[in-house]
Amino acid sequence: MDRICITGGQQLNGTIAISGAKNAALPLMIASLLTDETLTLDNVPRLADVALLKRILGNHGVDCLVKGKRAGQNGVAGETIELSANEIVDTTAPYDLVSRMRASFWVIGPLLARMGATRVSLPGGCAIGTRPVDFFIDALKDLGAEIDIDAGYVVARAPRGLTGGRITFPHISVGATHVAMMAATLARGETVIENAAREPEIVDLATCLTRMGAEITGAGTPTIRIQGVDRLHGARHAVMPDRIETGTYAFATAMTGGDVFLEGAQVDTIEAPLTVLRGIGADVETTNSGVRVRRNGAGLAPVDVETAPFPGFPTDLQAQLMALVSRADGTSHLRETIFENRFMHVQELARLGADIHLDGQVATVRGVDRLKGAEVMATDLRASVSLVIAGLAAEGETVVNRVYHLDRGFEQLEAKLGGCGAEIERLTG
Ligand code: UD1
Repeated sequence: MDRICITGGQQLNGTIAISGAKNAALPLMIASLLTDETLTLDNVPRLADVALLKRILGNHGVDCLVKGKRAGQNGVAGETIELSANEIVDTTAPYDLVSRMRASFWVIGPLLARMGATRVSLPGGCAIGTRPVDFFIDALKDLGAEIDIDAGYVVARAPRGLTGGRITFPHISVGATHVAMMAATLARGETVIENAAREPEIVDLATCLTRMGAEITGAGTPTIRIQGVDRLHGARHAVMPDRIETGTYAFATAMTGGDVFLEGAQVDTIEAPLTVLRGIGADVETTNSGVRVRRNGAGLAPVDVETAPFPGFPTDLQAQLMALVSRADGTSHLRETIFENRFMHVQELARLGADIHLDGQVATVRGVDRLKGAEVMATDLRASVSLVIAGLAAEGETVVNRVYHLDRGFEQLEAKLGGCGAEIERLTG
């Protein structure tokens, strides 16, 4: 199993090109199931999750043709993928695939809308909490679907097609909003989604669906309206820049000190993290082409931050922020409000010398003068990268085990950080 070895203490200086967003690419690829014509996606990041989703979609009969540069070819520009779901050959999403990536459960929306029936495995347990699917099931029922749970599968039927309806989510869910929106595009009549997620990835999906012929208004607000259409057609769409990758490298730069330009970052998607970063003491400059983060010598101020749905501070940056403030001059409080049990990084950060006390959903982080390299491992994607951030500032060598978590969501992590002066290498095998 690959490991990442970091020798801490180097400042980051240079430019990092921001990749296409994993959390936008996945639903966009799934949207290809809605049409028998070709959906062409540009700027798709080369990630393990994308590769796995290609396999999952292939199982349903989607041809995925990669047109852009492949991994290892020059530059970090993403792939162009042509997805053609000309014929759906299988409407079942099996356990062995869905259990490996929760987002693959989302095929339930387009398969049901287009084919009138589907069987999708329940996603199963997850390292960051129970993550149930009740909102998805209730939303599809609101669109007229009949749903049963049978032997670990959600069996959904709509023999005469879905009908538009009113969906009111009890809590904000990104995935359930994606699925409701996709399903409603092919339902008869109007659907209104209330308490919808407002994440930029929802807007990106809505933009792509609109290019495919869907009639959607209000994406990015709590109320989304969709007029169902008979069919969708092919389209071309570029995946939005990854706001979590942007925030991660911004925090890494604040951690090590230095001066990094995050090229291609979309500023309006990361305002909350950048505000926090300014409060911590980094210099943040935004332009149309990206974000520049600088910190030279000044100490880090502690913060009190609560995760929240967009436009709040994203849960997907909580671990990285915790790594950063572990070196602050004072005590920070981080409250996790989205997922229970999303503090798996705490004990690993402690191995590097961080002083963190957990009380329910609140982590109290007392800043320490120095971190010291150690061997660590992580249980999820964002937790792993928080250990990388800590390792960049720790004295000596940090070895991060279970790198496959990082490969799920960070394209060319070692090359991007190494290009800015970090001493970081992958140990294979
Ligand atoms: C997506 C993101 C993930 C991010 C999360 C929150 C992708 C591929 N993943 O995950 O990176 O951390 O949004 O911003 O885009 N819930 C229920 N019942 C449901 C569905 C959700 O109770 O049917 C709960 C979850 O357990 C969680 C909360 O709702 O507590 C929010 O989860 P949700 O927004 O659905 O997260 P994902 O879409 O899975």
